[in-house]
Formats: sequence, C-alpha cells, structure tokens
Amino acid sequence: MRARSRSARRIRVVFGVAGPKRVQKGESTSDLVNSAHVGDNSELFARLLALHVPAGSKVADVTYGKGVFWKRIPSGTYQLFASDLELAELDRDIFVRYRDKVDCRSLPYADDSFDALVLDPPYMEGFFRRQQTHRAGSGTHSAFRDAYADGNTYDAGDGGPKWHDAVTDLYLRAGIEARRVLRPGGVLIVKCQDEVSANKQRLTHVEIVTGYEDMGFYCKDLFVLVRSNAPGVSRLLKQVHARKNHSYFLIFELPRGRAKRIRSVRWSPQREQQPVLGAVDADGGEGGKRTVSKNPASEKKVAGKKKAAGKKKAAGKKAKAAAGKKKAAAGKKKAAGKKKAAGKKKSASKKKSASKKKSASKKKSASKKKSASKKKTAAKKKVSTRTRKKRTANKKTKRQRTASKKK
Ligand SMILES: C[S@@+](CC[C@H](N)C(=O)[O-])C[C@H]1O[C@@H](n2cnc3c(N)ncnc32)[C@H](O)[C@@H]1O
Repeated sequence: MRARSRSARRIRVVFGVAGPKRVQKGESTSDLVNSAHVGDNSELFARLLALHVPAGSKVADVTYGKGVFWKRIPSGTYQLFASDLELAELDRDIFVRYRDKVDCRSLPYADDSFDALVLDPPYMEGFFRRQQTHRAGSGTHSAFRDAYADGNTYDAGDGGPKWHDAVTDLYLRAGIEARRVLRPGGVLIVKCQDEVSANKQRLTHVEIVTGYEDMGFYCKDLFVLVRSNAPGVSRLLKQVHARKNHSYFLIFELPRGRAKRIRSVRWSPQREQQPVLGAVDADGGEGGKRTVSKNPASEKKVAGKKKAAGKKKAAGKKAKAAAGKKKAAAGKKKAAGKKKAAGKKKSASKKKSASKKKSASKKKSASKKKSASKKKTAAKKKVSTRTRKKRTANKKTKRQRTASKKK
C-alpha cells in the first residue's frame, strides 16, 4: 500500500502534478499570542480569549462594568452572562444576559455551571475609599478611576481588611466563588495590577497566584499588559519604587478531579484576625452561596479540634497497622514453630520405625541363624546315630560271622 502510494507520487512528479511534499504537522509562524503586550485591555483580552476559551463557551463576566473587555469580540461568539455590583447604563447586546447588583463573592449561579469566568474587581486600595473624591486615580489616572472604581466600592465592614488587604480579600473571596460555579476544567481569567500601598511593595499578582493555587487552581498562563502612554505624577519628591506601567491577566484552570478542596488560603499577616472561609454549601444549586462564619474564633477552635482528632485518628491507624504487622509476624513464627515441631516428630517417628525395622530384621536373622544351627546340629546328631547304628550292626554281623566260622 505504502509502495503503491510512493510510486503514484513519483508518477505525479514526472507529470508535474504532484502537490507539496508532506511535512511534519503544524506550520512555522511568528503570529503567536505573546506573554507581554503593549496596548489596551480589549486587544489583549480578545487574543487571550481566543487562545484559552473556545467559541461557544458559557462565560460569566462577574465584574462587567462598562464591558470594555468585550469591545473587540463579535457579539454572539460566547454565551455571555454579564453581572456587576453596579452595571453601567450602556446599549445592551441582545446576545448577552445582564444581571445588575450582583456581588462577585456570592453569585446567583449553580455549581459547575460555567466554562469560563472573568474577574476584574477594583485592583487598587485607593479605589476602596468610601468617598469618590478620596479615591485613587487623579491626573493621568482619572480615566482609570472612572473605568475601574466605577460602581459601588467594596466594603468589608467594620473590623474587615483595610487598604491593600481589602483588595486581596475581594480577589480571594471572588476566587472561591468562581471555583464553585466553574465546571472542572473551567478557566478563570483574572485581571490585576501590583501596587505600592503605605510605602510597601505589594505584588498583588503573586498574592493571587499563591492564594488561588491553595484553592486548587492551576495557574496556566500569565500575560503582562504594558501601557502605551507613560504614566506621570503631579508631585514627586523622591522616587522610591518604579512607577507601574503594566498590569496582568492571569489564566487559571480548575483541575478535574480533586479541584473542590481548599488546602489553605493565604492572608496578609497585617490582619488582626484570620478571616474564616466557610465550606462550599453542600446543597449549592441556583443561588448556592458560600457560608461565611460569624464567629471566626469558634470556627478556628473547631478546626483545631478537628485537626487534632484527625492526627489522633491517623496515629491510631498507624498503631493498629503496627499491631497487625506484629500479630502477623507472631502468627508466622508460631506456624514456623509448629512446622518445625511437626518435622521433628516426623523424623523421630521415622527413626523409631527404622530402628524397629532394624531390630526386627536383626531378630529375624538371629532366629533364622539359630534355627539353621539347630537344624544342623539335629542333622549332625541324626548322622551320628545312624553311623553308630551302622557300626553296631557291622560289629554284630562280624561277631556272627566269626561265631559261624568257629562252629
Ligand atoms: C475594573 S472595573 C471592571 C471593568 C470591566 N472589566 C470592563 O471591561 O469594563 C471594576 C468593576 O468591579 C465592580 N465591582 C466592585 N466591587 C464588586 C463586587 N464586590 N462584586 C461585583 N462587582 C464589583 C465595579 O462596579 C466595577 O464595575
């Protein structure tokens, strides 16, 4: 078959009708989606979506805002569910299902119901200030303020995380909710930017990656978006940190299998109290929400007790296993001893029977010998009486002959 196709190709080459020679799969190209991109959100978003989310997928954008991300995506390419704490009043796309006043930490969707989820909450602590005039985003950032601090600000409540910790808190809680509504193998696209907060460098993208990986997500890709214009400041005394002109798109994948297990969630050590992330509701369903404990201290205590009980259980199991091993070894030893004793008994009985046999045969041969010798002596005796008889008879005849002669 192969030889025939080779000869057929030779014929086609001779007549000048052969197609291109077969090469290895794939084509050489430089038209690739690169990890760093200079431009705007919508350009990079369109490229990374094409790379990571197949057309027709069911996608939830839970911080839709003004829908800037979707500007370059032909409507109807995806089954898009757009929600926000406060959706901007814009022309609506008939292919998009909108939902206003939805907190990304508590989504009205069923478990495992989306192929992909987009999360782009306010990423600067400055956007969390209660008064619009106190919020970050002045000067060259004013356009950012309009776009990013749009809608309600995140309020973690009294005693909740503040400043940059509030940013991380929102990302982590939204991540947990994303984990609930995404199907195994689903994709989570997160937009973020690092920031200097209270004169400290806070690498938000690192905090998100480590926190989400603890939740069971796998960080599949990372894109750096570089602003095409140079950011400036109105008052500069002395520059301490590099001025940030880049942000990130992080791509996470929810692994199949044991993805629904949280190992731990990292929190800033600056927080006074460890926030407690309750377990995902077992009954989930439409509107299934995470239960967040009202009494973190007691939950902590319970968790500690549970941990200790688990440890005890594990230790018990170990001890049980060791005891089982010991028992098995003792049983083996016993069986071996029994075997040995049985062998010994066997050999002893063998020896006994052998010696019995030997003595019996000895006895037999001795009696045989005795009877033989007896027979011999009896025969000898018989012979001697016969000869004696013969002799006396001879003597008798001799005497008779001499007597007759004398007569
Ligand atoms: C950076 S903007 C999103 C921009 C959006 N990606 C776009 O393309 O236009 C942040 C958005 O998060 C929303 N937001 C803030 N806190 C939220 C929360 N807890 N749940 C849902 N949305 C929230 C704001 O209303 C705002 O629209």
